[in-house]
Amino acid sequence: MIATPPAILIDCDPGIDDCLALMYLAGLHHAGDIELVGVTTTAGNVEAYQTAANARWILDLCSLGDVPVAPGLTRPLKVDLTTTPETHGSTGLGYATAPTTTLHHSDWQRLWKEALAAHHDLQLIVTGPVTNLAAFEEAHSEAVAQFGAITIMGGAVNYRGNTTPTAEWNFWVDPHAAAQHFHSSAPRVPTTLCSLELTEQFLITPQRLEAVMELLHGHPMAHILRDVLRYYFEFHQAQGEGYQAQIHDLLTCMIALGQIDFEVVETTVDVEAESPLLRGTSVADLRNHWGRAHNARLVTSADMEAAHQECLRGFTLLASR
Ligand code: BDR
Ligand code: CA
Repeated sequence: MIATPPAILIDCDPGIDDCLALMYLAGLHHAGDIELVGVTTTAGNVEAYQTAANARWILDLCSLGDVPVAPGLTRPLKVDLTTTPETHGSTGLGYATAPTTTLHHSDWQRLWKEALAAHHDLQLIVTGPVTNLAAFEEAHSEAVAQFGAITIMGGAVNYRGNTTPTAEWNFWVDPHAAAQHFHSSAPRVPTTLCSLELTEQFLITPQRLEAVMELLHGHPMAHILRDVLRYYFEFHQAQGEGYQAQIHDLLTCMIALGQIDFEVVETTVDVEAESPLLRGTSVADLRNHWGRAHNARLVTSADMEAAHQECLRGFTLLASR
């Protein structure tokens, strides 16, 4: 009997590291390792329609014109939207710019519901602010219970932040959504959480990029990837991190799909939303002081060398299309 590949829905905000995540998923989709059933976008790195236009362009360049893309909510649940052009460029893809496009799928909630109805054990990966997921949980808790797994990139859990001293970007942009998600009883499974302390260890250097470029030789993505990454290298250098880039969202996808070894601790995560000082700060109750039920599988370590090999495998699959 031929096993059905796992069905994947990704909610993202491309975004340079989101772009690499989409390319990786495209490679695995073409190889039949997964079925990428849809892409929805959040407002975060740039506005939601722009992130959707970027996702559409990336999928088209990766020969996935038939995978639907829909923009999600245009602003966080309760705070004004802040975007980060200094990190990802004015339109989100560094020095590259997506062509203007008309998106045919405008109803992201319908896309989620149809995907849930069509695919048993659908896996959701969130690599932007948690806005769409929190809103969907509130409106359709019975549907959320049908997700087979939910994996999120977000939070600087019991760790220093990259946006404030204690907050990571995705949770800082929409702290109420992140808090609401971890309070929700809608998911049937605990969220797998890939937080900053882990994901910032997955670094692409110019040398590693050149290895990817060799694999992609002649692929449409090869024409833009250097321009996309150069912006991210420069941003990280300006932050004192060196001329390289943290590829949070791609690592998160590999973990979601179980493609590399990693360790988790089952714990209870909460997010501060109301305090201006601690906005978006995330905490894991590792010693059970709160006495609350576990709501997260916090990823504490992953095999980074295996992640680099898996990255090359995914891009080889993409290039062989
Ligand atoms: C996260 O913030 C975004 O800028 C990246 O795309 C990633 O999802 C890292 O803090
Ligand atoms: Ca992202």
